[in-house]
This record gives sequence, structure tokens and C-alpha cells, in this order.
Amino acid sequence: MASDMTAAADLEVRRLGPADAAPYRTLMLEAYELHPDAFTSTVAERASLPLSWWESRVKPEANADELVLGAFRGSRLAGVVGLSFESREKARHKAHMFGMYVPSKLRNAGVGKKLVLGVLEFARKRPGVKVVQLTVTQGNTAAQALYERCGFVPFGVEPYAVAVGMQFVSKVHMWCDLRVE
Ligand SMILES: CC(C)(COP(=O)(O)OP(=O)(O)OC[C@H]1O[C@@H](n2cnc3c(N)ncnc32)[C@H](O)[C@@H]1OP(=O)(O)O)[C@@H](O)C(=O)NCCC(=O)NCCS
Repeated sequence: MASDMTAAADLEVRRLGPADAAPYRTLMLEAYELHPDAFTSTVAERASLPLSWWESRVKPEANADELVLGAFRGSRLAGVVGLSFESREKARHKAHMFGMYVPSKLRNAGVGKKLVLGVLEFARKRPGVKVVQLTVTQGNTAAQALYERCGFVPFGVEPYAVAVGMQFVSKVHMWCDLRVE
């Protein structure tokens, strides 16, 4: 077991605000660099964006179109996950989970589960939201199994979803019905 492995009970999960934009950026650039198969953005694309882009992702408004949750061990950011909301009237019942990342030294200690359950809690609080969807790269067993344990169900596989270098990866589409407890 890694010495700095975190017990889930010691973690605080809260919504990030503009003051967290810099550590959020650092963590996500690490994620894109180390896990090109898992994310659609490349590290180069995201590294070129100004800090204001990351600040806008974590804007504090109650009805923001997206929000990011962070798991903290003390002041250290131990994991992140995002949630975006549809604005069009016919799709407002759907939200999308994105950008889930826990650094390797902190994995398998329940950080990911706490973040996913946190996202579902935030989604339930948003008026009218009934469904959370996500995509996960086919073969990312750790992530898919975690999502299934938290109530997500696969509903399809998108072939050739993302180009990673000369290869293509497929994406498993999953959904969680928030009306099911
Ligand atoms: C996916 C990820 C967020 C999980 O974070 P985590 O903090 O390790 O998650 P948890 O500790 O809550 O849960 C991990 C669980 O997966 C299990 N697990 C680990 N590897 C596994 C595997 N290959 N197959 C099945 N289960 C696996 C662990 O045993 C643990 O199960 P438990 O809760 O019953 O003990 C993390 O591995 C990560 O950031 N991966 C790289 C980026 C990524 O793939 N992001 C997802 C994009 S969709």
C-alpha cells in the first residue's frame, strides 16, 4: 500500500471555485499526459488554454452550466470530477459526468467512489435533472466497474470514438437513472 494512500473517511468532497483553478489545471494536465486513452482532450490542447478558461469551469454560480467537485485531503487536491448540464429545453433532464481523475498514488482507497457519489448528489439537487450520462473508454475496467457500483448502466458502445495517436478507442456510454435510489 502506498504510504500516502488516503482513507476515504479523511476526505472532504466539495465544489471547486475560482481559487482552485490552478491546482485543478495541474491535476488535469497530469491526467491528460499520463492517460491519453482515457480522455478526449490532449495535454497540448489544454496546456495552451489560459487560466481564465479553467476559472470559468469552476465558476461559483448556483445555476452554472458546469461544475467540478474536488476531493481534498487537508488542502491537497486528491481527485476531481466534472458535471455539465444541458441548457436546451428538451434535454434539460440530462447531465454529463466528465474529467474524472485520481492520481495513481491515491487510488483504490475510495476517492473515486466518493467523487462519483458526490456528482450524483449534486445532479439530484439540480431541478429537473433525471439522468446522468458518461462515457468511458472500452477496456478501462477500473473506471467502468466503479461507475457500475455507483449505479451506472452501460447502454451502448461507440466504435472509433477517439483517435489516440494512430489507434482508435471505443467508448462505452453509461447512464444513471436518478429516480432509482
Ligand atoms: C478511475 C479512477 C478515477 C478510480 O479512482 P479510485 O480512487 O481508485 O476509485 P475507488 O478507490 O473509489 O475505486 C476503485 C475500485 O476499483 C477496483 N479496481 C481497481 N482496478 C480494477 C480493475 N482493473 N478492475 C476492476 N476493479 C478494479 C478497486 O479494487 C476498487 O474497488 P473497491 O471500491 O471495491 O475497493 C482512477 O483509477 C483514475 O483516475 N484512473 C485514471 C483516469 C481515468 O481512467 N479516469 C476515468 C475516465 S472515464
